[in-house]
Amino acid sequence: MQINYDKFSISLESDEGLEELLEYLQLGDIRLTPNIHSRVVSRLRFSARKLGHKNFGELLAHLKSDQNAHDSILDWLDKGRSYNEEDRSFSPLINRKTSLKDYVNNSKVTPKPKKPKIKKRKLLPLEILPGIKMPADEKNLDLIYDFLLNRGINYQAYKINHFLRRLHARMKRIETETYREYHNVLKRNPREFNLLMETFSINVTRFFRDKELFIALEKKIFPTIMKDTSKNIRIWSAGCAIGPEPYSLAMILKDLQEKYPPNKIYLLATDINQALLEQARKGIYAKQSLEETDHPRRLKYFTPLDSEQFQLSRQIRNLVSFQQHDLRTTPPGKDFDLIMCRNVLIYFSRSQSKVFFEQFYSSLKSRGYLVLGRCEVLPQFIKDKFEIIDTKNRIYRRKN
Ligand SMILES: C[S@@+](CC[C@H](N)C(=O)[O-])C[C@H]1O[C@@H](n2cnc3c(N)ncnc32)[C@H](O)[C@@H]1O
Repeated sequence: MQINYDKFSISLESDEGLEELLEYLQLGDIRLTPNIHSRVVSRLRFSARKLGHKNFGELLAHLKSDQNAHDSILDWLDKGRSYNEEDRSFSPLINRKTSLKDYVNNSKVTPKPKKPKIKKRKLLPLEILPGIKMPADEKNLDLIYDFLLNRGINYQAYKINHFLRRLHARMKRIETETYREYHNVLKRNPREFNLLMETFSINVTRFFRDKELFIALEKKIFPTIMKDTSKNIRIWSAGCAIGPEPYSLAMILKDLQEKYPPNKIYLLATDINQALLEQARKGIYAKQSLEETDHPRRLKYFTPLDSEQFQLSRQIRNLVSFQQHDLRTTPPGKDFDLIMCRNVLIYFSRSQSKVFFEQFYSSLKSRGYLVLGRCEVLPQFIKDKFEIIDTKNRIYRRKN
């Protein structure tokens, strides 16, 4: 049975309180793909409407005071889901025993406040795909999990099937058959940890990924920065993979320089993975990574090498300085006008990302911008220090 998600595209008076609600449901820390994120938000919106609320904040207040509503909503989000790695989707709610509908039918819209007794759930359950062969000591996966968690990596928060495939590939490579054996190697050999991290790093990227964001940067954010800044613009793309993200910024800035000539551009792009940076410097890309690049820019800045590959012009490549940097160490600079860190924090636990956010804050100029990925949110603890500029495109601005 397929659910038609369009029927949940209901609007509220405002989306106020969404991020707090996601955090409260422990979804803020769970890395949802944009597709899943929008489905979850649609369901929450639908729930809020059903329960007679004007915005997510009201729904949150309701859930805090009503354990049954809280559980029903989680059932509504969780039940019967399975994860399909091919199209990165969960199959929708089937065979669920309780539902929001049951809850609404069996209770008054304004519930009696009850003492909240919230079940702690670490994760949303993700089913392991049948295609994945687990080692004989399957239960010892926790050893690896704890080992990584102690180093700030929370793999369970994101794409477990993908992670397991890569973990098993590493285990095979060094001829270990059980999680316990591999755990012993990890403990003894820091190099293996690095190799695992490199294998695990998902480096999917493309030019102008999430096009709307780049339009917002081009039309609103950069003109504001370029008017404010008389000499230099300092930008840091953190976790840049093979470069399309900083290069997309470079193309936009180059074009804007025709309007705002005096600005000098300093564009730093960093990643933990040296091999990716080497590839980035060459600036050669498969044609699929240009799919979201508009035609005039393709013509202006790319040269076809053959029918499948394109090289980015030297003029744009020269605008970006690539540098190896591990986000878990001291930031590579300060006084940035804009820091972009998208689809990177997904690898890390909440406590580790907290450190990153503190570092981003201190590396930004006062009134500098922070841009996150589509399914990443600014954590509660630091919200007061940023102004929300564009919720959808995850653009925030450091307060004075
Ligand atoms: C999915 S890519 C994101 C690329 C680009 N930001 C985008 O959204 O298109 C994630 C990148 O984060 C990098 N990464 C992972 N852990 C990192 C760390 N500790 N420090 C710096 N970069 C890291 C990976 O090597 C990978 O290239």
